[in-house]
Amino acid sequence: MSTERTLVLIKPDGVSRQLTGTILARVEAKGYTLADLKLTNATRTQLEQHYEEHVGKPFYEPLVEFMLSGQMVVAIFTGERVIEGFRTLAGSTEPTVASPGTIRGDFGRDWGLKVQQNLVHGSDSPESAEREIGIWFG
Ligand code: RTP
Ligand code: MG
Repeated sequence: MSTERTLVLIKPDGVSRQLTGTILARVEAKGYTLADLKLTNATRTQLEQHYEEHVGKPFYEPLVEFMLSGQMVVAIFTGERVIEGFRTLAGSTEPTVASPGTIRGDFGRDWGLKVQQNLVHGSDSPESAEREIGIWFG
């Protein structure tokens, strides 16, 4: 397997809860390399592109509103199998039931907004990673 890159978002809940350093440290400690990083406010246009696969689903609008609610961190990490590896570190989508030891399992729970506030996003394939890196880093 050749070196991959993945797009990681620390969602507004992660930034506002001051977990940015903790989350980045976990990814670095796993051995992945930080290749780019910025703190930003998402635009609706970026989010429409990023979440295009979810347009029309019941959680889509609340998800976009949540992602617009505060600053986010966007990062590129590189490494062998980093796409799969980061998603394993992140844990399953719903933080209430994500395994302890994962980012979502250790720091997330149900805050009333169901699964939107799950701290992080990671690309799910090489194609998604390249598409998403284009959205956030241009
Ligand atoms: P992500 O794309 O953020 O890495 O998360 P994922 O693959 O684990 O989850 P996905 O199915 O792609 O959903 C994207 C994000 O939408 C929110 N979500 N809300 N039923 C719901 O209310 C619901 N389902 C998904 C979460 O923020 C999820 O990460
Ligand atoms: Mg996804």
